[in-house]
Amino acid sequence: MVWSPAQRLIQPVRGMCSSSDCKFCFFRSLSIQPVQQRKIPNRYLGQPSPFTHPHLLKLGEVTPGLSQVEYALRRHKLMAQLHKEVPGMDHTVIVLSNPTYYMSNDIPYTFHQDTNFLYLCGFQEPDSILVLQSMPGKSLPSHKALLFVPRRDPSRELWDGPRSGTDGALALTGVDEAYTIEEFRHLVAKLKDESSMVWYDFAKPVHPQLHSDYLLHLAEVKARSKNRIQAIRQLVQNLRLVKSPAEIERMKIAGKVTSQAFIETMFASKAPVEEAFLYAKFEFECRARGADILAYPPVVAGGNRSNTLHYVKNNQLIKDGEMVLLDGGCESSCYVSDITRTWPINGRFTSPQAELYQAVLEVQKSCLRLCSPGVSLDNIYSLMLTLIGQKLKDLGILQKSTPESHLFKAVRKYCPHHVGHYLGMDVHDTPEVSRSIPLQPGMVITIEPGIYIPEDDASAPERFRGIGVRIEDDVVVTENIPLILSADCPKEIYDIEQVCGCGP
Ligand code: GLY
Ligand code: MN
Ligand code: MN
Repeated sequence: MVWSPAQRLIQPVRGMCSSSDCKFCFFRSLSIQPVQQRKIPNRYLGQPSPFTHPHLLKLGEVTPGLSQVEYALRRHKLMAQLHKEVPGMDHTVIVLSNPTYYMSNDIPYTFHQDTNFLYLCGFQEPDSILVLQSMPGKSLPSHKALLFVPRRDPSRELWDGPRSGTDGALALTGVDEAYTIEEFRHLVAKLKDESSMVWYDFAKPVHPQLHSDYLLHLAEVKARSKNRIQAIRQLVQNLRLVKSPAEIERMKIAGKVTSQAFIETMFASKAPVEEAFLYAKFEFECRARGADILAYPPVVAGGNRSNTLHYVKNNQLIKDGEMVLLDGGCESSCYVSDITRTWPINGRFTSPQAELYQAVLEVQKSCLRLCSPGVSLDNIYSLMLTLIGQKLKDLGILQKSTPESHLFKAVRKYCPHHVGHYLGMDVHDTPEVSRSIPLQPGMVITIEPGIYIPEDDASAPERFRGIGVRIEDDVVVTENIPLILSADCPKEIYDIEQVCGCGP
């Protein structure tokens, strides 16, 4: 017997069998047994493995760059947190994967895993459940991790491709035990007889199949037993907020890939050009560099359309003399980037474009300088509003006499959004974490001030109407100066004109 890396970290405890006829060892002994080092099956699984994709994953990694040990530590930290929140109880955590969503009859959308589930185990298949069970009677937060996964099924695999099965899931992820999804009902039945704390996100009914088949029984668990049920989402988000060194490495890759894609897209700009062409070019350049998908539908907005914050139609012609605002990012090995640049489609800023652009750029750089431990996103937002207010006065867009007491309201007309958000596995990462908390080293945020002057805004000087500018970078907070993940993406006027000027 040898210990897997995860088991070396989480020491097993032998226990007594609580039910002699129970078919599952976690029911029988509630102990962690040393298991043989699991060998990855030498066949295709439901996701890349070190055996089938050695160019992507090293031995011991669950997803590229992230090891079984890292995933085990995340689960361990979560269980430790639960014991701290509610001491003296046994805890059961239930986290659902995403289901497959369908675009039309039998035609699935590209599958994307639920990010809390992914964060805790790295398993990439739909219709799966992760269960973490604390070990009764132990003062330390020792626990078992169980995965319930789709069973191997040649008739389905003929259509959908290989599944990992229980053996593949176990070996790849390093959880303690794996069962087929049908076996989940045994766990629910057991929970009915217990009085433990059950952590489960009832507020997220994204999984109609699993909810109706299995998890509705949990309502019974809640009604009939002494179990107490609490939501788990916020606690997982708290863990996701501060990134590990391995996570930062993944985010560096996402930032670099996206920055290069921006350069190529600027380089290919010409007047006139279709928004759809720039969208396709940007996506191609991200994916050609190894990105899995785009992190979100990008905004590719020419001219006045840049003043529509969530413009994603991307189907209009951009004319000579107009600017384009492109807000795009890629997802690479479960981590995303989120970058915005605004540039003149013909490669030369006009005077009003340059004045407005330079104003946003200076505000953005001041906000970047503030990204340090102890300062909150809300603090940086206040600075952004103050600085934009000053710029709008300098440009003659706001009256110099606008009183301080009205300034923030006036500024919000021209910049209706916040200065930024947390970034990670999701674009708007950990949304339940307040933006008022002090930043810590390891947090990743965006800094994205903008000024938007709609073409029908009669109160703004005519020369600025129809121009919208946003500049967005991705930033790792460190003990020292912030690390800009999107630093390779040009944003100085001179650099942008150089890149665009070199194009076809
Ligand atoms: N791309 C979405 C955002 O910047 O928040
Ligand atoms: Mn953003
Ligand atoms: Mn963005």
